[in-house]
Amino acid sequence: MSDTTTLEINGKKHEFPLITGTENEVAIDIKSLRADTNGVITLDSGYKNTGSCKSAITFLDGEKGILRYRGYSIEELAEKADFLEVAYLLIFGELPTKEQNEKFHNDIKAQSLVDDDIRKIVDAFPKSAHPMGIISSLTSALTAFNPSSVNVNSEADMYNSVVRILGKFPVLVSWTLRKKQGLPLDYGDKQLGYVENILKMMFQEPNACYVQNNILVDTLDKLLILHADHEQNCSTSTVRIVGSSHAGLFASLSAGISALWGPLHGGANQAVLEMLEAIKEDGGDTKKYMAKAKDKNDPFRLMGFGHRVYKNFDPRAKILKKAADEVLGNLGIEDPILEIAKGLEKEALEDKYFVDRKLYPNVDFYSGIIYRAMGIPTDMFTVMFALGRLPGWIAQWREMRLNKEPIGRPRQLYIGATERSFTPVEER
Ligand code: SDX
Repeated sequence: MSDTTTLEINGKKHEFPLITGTENEVAIDIKSLRADTNGVITLDSGYKNTGSCKSAITFLDGEKGILRYRGYSIEELAEKADFLEVAYLLIFGELPTKEQNEKFHNDIKAQSLVDDDIRKIVDAFPKSAHPMGIISSLTSALTAFNPSSVNVNSEADMYNSVVRILGKFPVLVSWTLRKKQGLPLDYGDKQLGYVENILKMMFQEPNACYVQNNILVDTLDKLLILHADHEQNCSTSTVRIVGSSHAGLFASLSAGISALWGPLHGGANQAVLEMLEAIKEDGGDTKKYMAKAKDKNDPFRLMGFGHRVYKNFDPRAKILKKAADEVLGNLGIEDPILEIAKGLEKEALEDKYFVDRKLYPNVDFYSGIIYRAMGIPTDMFTVMFALGRLPGWIAQWREMRLNKEPIGRPRQLYIGATERSFTPVEER
């Protein structure tokens, strides 16, 4: 393949380099386009055809349904690794050695205390507050309690920021849940593993010892791994662009949490459960909701279906569908919602509208069923997504800063009023 391409504009030819990635993806490098063409730019609403960066973290092939973190398949990592190993891999680029792994765990535990003054911020929220609004605010507040901004060129400084947020964020997640439930805030137990400690902080009843359930530990570990990164999705792109102004790590993460909240993105896992509940209330009438999803006059979309990149099964959805069966079976839970989900999936996979548009179940379609089986309230599902995505956001933020990328500042095509003079109010 040639390593350049030519664009002809107003009869003049302009040559631009073609760049090929390690997975043979090809990009046109248009960094000189505006200068070379006296102001011509590209326009690509939603960036469906536009790469924002070069990245070595996550590769996904939407047509083949492939997802790899630093070259390792999501299937292998979900089966053989634990969440902190995957976090280390995403952020630092290699799976940790035994010593590195042990040190990472211990350094995170050492950072798992949250300033008691943050409790006052938690107390100030109404019980009706959505957990995503709480966790986004608490994450931003961490900047106030840890003002030293990250010196990304200092490995030590970056490492300390990473273990600090990985240590504190699960505490904030559990405080968010317990606030809503009117339970005393829990600091966890440094003797426990990372995931065990999350479950204890979330579910410990004040008047009883918390008994670990290995099914829940393994399931949550797998859910966090499956959500850990997903290249330049909406919330990750938000973290990168906020960080590109050299805003702090915690402030960038807080912005990413807000972007994830939307029902078209991470908020879909909550919307899927609400949709399945509505179908159940409707007597399981899946055909009515399929018709609504296809009706262009109806804003309703089949939540948990479709994806900007996957035009095949989301590999995470495949793993989660199997996990949903296993978890509900192991916990002895008969959830009619799971059967409705499977029925809806079967119908959609045979429906011309969905087949023609390559709309398959995505990561959010089955995750909510599992979260619910674990006893997590529906409005906490997207907070759990953020807990999993944290290492990916950190990894992408660090890569953007280490690559010294310029501040993100897209251009636009102006279509508003041309120049006109001010009209005094008496004459309007
Ligand atoms: C996540 O990007 C990531 O990687 C995200 C994520 C991650 O890990 O970070 O994977 C997590 O956000 C998964 C997606 C969760 N969102 C949902 O499940 C919400 C429902 N899905 C849709 O809103 C939609 O599929 C999107 C937002 C996910 C993707 O939308 P696109 O790529 O912008 O596609 P589109 O809106 O241009 O749709 C193309 C066509 C349209 O019909 P036509 O105009 O061609 O007739 O497909 C239709 C859409 O109306 N369509 C749907 C649909 N999704 C797309 N129709 C009904 N139900 C749907 N769910």
